[in-house]
Amino acid sequence: MPIDAPHDGHDLVVVANRLPVDVTLDEAGEPSWTRSPGGLVTALAPVMSKAEGAWVGWGGSPGLELEPFDVDGTELVPVMLTESDVERYYEGFSNDTLWPLYHDVIAPPQFHRQWWDAYRRVNERFAQAAAAKTAHGGTVWVHDYQLQLVPAYLRELRPDLRIGYFHHIPFPPLEIFAQLPWRKQVVEGLLGADVIGFQRGGDAANFVRVVRRLTDLTTRGQMITVDEGTPAQRHVRAAAFPISIDSHAFDQLARTPEVQARAAQIRHELGDPEHLLLGVDRLDYTKGIRHRIKAYGELLEDGRLSATETTLVQVASPSRENVGAYQQLRDDVELLVGRINGDHGQVGHAPVQYLHQSFPMEEMAALYLAADVMLVTALRDGMNLVAKEYVAARSDERGALVLSEFTGAADELVGAVLVNPHDIDGMKDAITYAVHMEPREARKRMRRLRRRVLGHDVAAWSQEFLATLTAVPVRDGRG
Ligand code: G6P
Repeated sequence: MPIDAPHDGHDLVVVANRLPVDVTLDEAGEPSWTRSPGGLVTALAPVMSKAEGAWVGWGGSPGLELEPFDVDGTELVPVMLTESDVERYYEGFSNDTLWPLYHDVIAPPQFHRQWWDAYRRVNERFAQAAAAKTAHGGTVWVHDYQLQLVPAYLRELRPDLRIGYFHHIPFPPLEIFAQLPWRKQVVEGLLGADVIGFQRGGDAANFVRVVRRLTDLTTRGQMITVDEGTPAQRHVRAAAFPISIDSHAFDQLARTPEVQARAAQIRHELGDPEHLLLGVDRLDYTKGIRHRIKAYGELLEDGRLSATETTLVQVASPSRENVGAYQQLRDDVELLVGRINGDHGQVGHAPVQYLHQSFPMEEMAALYLAADVMLVTALRDGMNLVAKEYVAARSDERGALVLSEFTGAADELVGAVLVNPHDIDGMKDAITYAVHMEPREARKRMRRLRRRVLGHDVAAWSQEFLATLTAVPVRDGRG
């Protein structure tokens, strides 16, 4: 049932699983907020403050009920998730059903009806919060796989709105998507949007094919025609809008004397290795961390890399630690790292420096600058922003990027050394090639990479998406 627009609504409302701030509770249970450093926050901050927008999302802590509050001209609207919602909607359906299903079933997806019920309920709650905060004829931008039903729920409540949805992760081929018992409901949920954005053209094409096979709707290129009775027809556009980073800010950060000095200090603290390799990932089974470390271990074993002159720094930031597949992965990675260090280490030198921690942006920039070779070997990844950050940090035009073909970034980043992470021998050759790359070739490649990353930043991404959404014709009943 449609509801009335609020009198004090916002023209632009973002809906994402997480708010753009991290909440911490003190001992008395009092919450305090710190701005979270995520890319989406940086991307949307200028647009949001100009539009005096609102952001609907979860505060990150179960059971926490909070009133909306203002941060830098944006109204933050917390959505409450109970402990059971966190278990079923977030850890369960989002991260143990959809996440593995959409990433090539690298881990087996779990299908549980109770999880689906929770997903539906929570999506409805997000839609209601957005409906209550958006001005008549306003724009709502929904983000990511946790909220695929929000567009349709929201359209039901507020047919006067323009609704955009951006899918940050891969959209799988029909043959895999079709495993989902609730596949039709998910497609219908997404089709509530006017524009559905994906990272790659291939993801958009997968979605359009799914629509053709699972519904009776007609499609023409990127356009899907949805029959709704009155007004008779609506057109939904499914297209690629590859996301980026705040490239210029990152470039500037990496040029500061503090970061430069820290980069030199890192190399020194590691014993000034001749070759410094780097991996930076959330500890997630999609990232190919095991494959990468296996290839590195074999290179040491074969003597193609010297264990005394080479170091691999692997930053693996803790993630989704209550989900079984992530616990298993942590054990596997830590076993592998222990074995390599045990077999090839010496007193005072470990060939793998493994850090199960998160670091501030400054430290990340210093690590990127310190590294000779960056290893991004994901088995499947929507985009992979680490690859772009590495490039943005390298204004010295040095360093080499080894990049998996199975990332969205590989579509754009010509100049990287591409690898198939399942092919361990191929990956060993690529790593060796990158380690010994001539400075001239490295410079040429890095220039190309930097032209792309600095020429298309996250502000351009959000502008392109919002411009496409704003171009959607206003329909009857819209103010
Ligand atoms: C991916 C997803 C995001 C998610 C992030 C961190 O990048 O696309 O939607 O926020 O991982 O995962 P988390 O479960 O901690 O939010």
